[in-house]
Amino acid sequence: HAQQGYTLWMDYAGSNPQSRKNLKFLAKSIYMEAGSDILKSAQNEIEIGLSGLLNEKLNFSDTMENDNSLVVSKVSSLKGSWSQSMDVSSEKLGNEGFYIRSRDGGILVTANTDIGLLYGVFRLLQFIQAGHHLEDFSLLDAPSVDLRMLNHWDNLDRTIERGYAGFSLWNWQKLPEYIDQRYIDYARANASIGINGTVLTNVNANALVLTPMYLEKVAALADVFRKYGIKVYLTARFSAPMEIGGLETADPLNTEVRNWWAQKTNEIYKWIPDFGGFLVKANSEGQPGPQNYGRTHVDGANMLAEAVQPHGGVVIWRAFVYSEDDETDRAKQAYAEFVPYDGQFMENVLVQVKNGPIDFQSREPFHPLFGAMSKTPLMMEFQITQEYLGFSSHLVFLPKLFEEVLQSDTYVKGKGSTVAKVIDGSQHNKRISGMAGVSNIGTDLNWTGHPFAQANWFGFGRLAWNPETKANDIAEDWIKLTYTNNKELIALLKPMMINSREAVVNYMNPLGLHHLFDTGHHYGPGPWVDNLGRPDWNPTYYHKADENGIGFDRTKSGSNALEQYSDEVSYTFGNLKTCPETYLLWFHHLPWDYTLNNGNSLWDGLALRYQEGVDQVSEMIETWEKARNFINNDQYHEVKMLLDIQLKEAKWWRDASLLYFQTFSGMELPEGVPKPT
Ligand code: GCU
Repeated sequence: HAQQGYTLWMDYAGSNPQSRKNLKFLAKSIYMEAGSDILKSAQNEIEIGLSGLLNEKLNFSDTMENDNSLVVSKVSSLKGSWSQSMDVSSEKLGNEGFYIRSRDGGILVTANTDIGLLYGVFRLLQFIQAGHHLEDFSLLDAPSVDLRMLNHWDNLDRTIERGYAGFSLWNWQKLPEYIDQRYIDYARANASIGINGTVLTNVNANALVLTPMYLEKVAALADVFRKYGIKVYLTARFSAPMEIGGLETADPLNTEVRNWWAQKTNEIYKWIPDFGGFLVKANSEGQPGPQNYGRTHVDGANMLAEAVQPHGGVVIWRAFVYSEDDETDRAKQAYAEFVPYDGQFMENVLVQVKNGPIDFQSREPFHPLFGAMSKTPLMMEFQITQEYLGFSSHLVFLPKLFEEVLQSDTYVKGKGSTVAKVIDGSQHNKRISGMAGVSNIGTDLNWTGHPFAQANWFGFGRLAWNPETKANDIAEDWIKLTYTNNKELIALLKPMMINSREAVVNYMNPLGLHHLFDTGHHYGPGPWVDNLGRPDWNPTYYHKADENGIGFDRTKSGSNALEQYSDEVSYTFGNLKTCPETYLLWFHHLPWDYTLNNGNSLWDGLALRYQEGVDQVSEMIETWEKARNFINNDQYHEVKMLLDIQLKEAKWWRDASLLYFQTFSGMELPEGVPKPT
């Protein structure tokens, strides 16, 4: 099992032999439209996929015949009885969608475009892999989000900011000549879940990537990814005109600076004709930006937008800003800085907003910007890499978290104004929409470190394609594609994955607590840390525990961050009777003896939550023992060792947090919570 995990959810030869028997006929005579590189990728995937799945030699036919067993062809080239099989309006397929249907003795995969066909081929293979019956089968699917992107926080020296699965895949030293097979497999994996963009470099950007030496290498990667419908984007360091351009300023209203960016952009498009555009972190955590020159986010974003516009590129401007001068509440700052600019950004600017107002915690309420900028396309930024969720050591199924955010109701246009609708653009009829995930991918043999972290990459892709997708369905599909479609195994693993998200919340940040991590690394507990350079970097800033109680008052009597939400949301969260206990200490500062819904005191309830998190990890271990019969030994041992770490560390979080908070509450631990030894 040297290659354990490398094939991700595309282990065509490995899983579900029984489900393929009655599909062997598919190999008989395959017609595959020829032409573009993307179609070649589709053909290549059929070759690897179908021959692996069916264990049969594939016969391709050069012409489309009525008795083909499989036809993969654009709607516009369908012939004979195959064009009659196209029984839906092709408009519904759009530019990226596909239609798959079975008919007597054959299967049709069709689309308006080459990329639609590639997506259709991947989906067909996944259906076969998962063991679905393909008789009387039809499926029409098209993405509801335009930009479905990974954000790599990869540095040019191949370290990865917040990366826990080895080094960066991008081997700058050997590029452009040496094309690592991993680039191709990375592109295949992404295309198989519909991802169509990738930002290669860290948001804490290095201007060097914009120099010819690197652009040549970026172009080589773009050449590989293009064949899978994936565009390349780069992060733009705002001060690049000074650092690599020799200018004395990076002021976005300075003509020389504007010309420099225009020329730089032209140069990039010479290398990469379909370059996607720039992702920018400006005036945040020490990164340079327009505010250094007394200018605004709009000035900065529009300058770059003007440069990429003639080439059809976009600028993705991040809203992750919080300044050290603001003493009230970090959670309020992005909204305060961005809402006034709604309507002033150029058409090709998207503002990228993290899912919650602080920073990728295991649970946060949705960001108040969602729904609050009706004229600006807002892109979702999720974090797939588990910076605050146990790195690649802890098993946490993130689609559950993503789903919770996407299904949150902003109420900006009444009930049903979910974040999902803001993101897919339907809420305010946006011209362009997008979702980004901060990648968890690295050079580890299995790509993501923890085998189950593959499910987070997979799940992100599914949700970016369709933000209404259910976490439950994602878990089930991933298990089937990665392990087997055995019902007993699914019955074991699916609840384990689904519950894993609540487990990490319980043992790290129960009842709405947040940002209690030790300095810098964000791995273990450090709720006591109070000596960092900025108040809002200290955990004490977030939990505000003292003899009287614990929690961040964000109601009117406190920071009033609630006023940034619509009235309905602000009422629900602001009122103790209606605020879900999952967000209790996010919005309220409460006495230790405050009575929770179940009658427990806040102190007891908090302690019991930590314990519940520990118990949930113990249950995961028991489940994994039962799963042992269905998987191979290596698969079993790898995850078992990781779960043992997770259990040890869940206890560490519980004990460290409770011992510290106890110095304020002065209360005994309730029954069922062991005294730390
Ligand atoms: C977090 C993370 C940083 C990252 C930042 C960002 O604060 O810890 O490493 O640069 O988010 O999203 O810009």
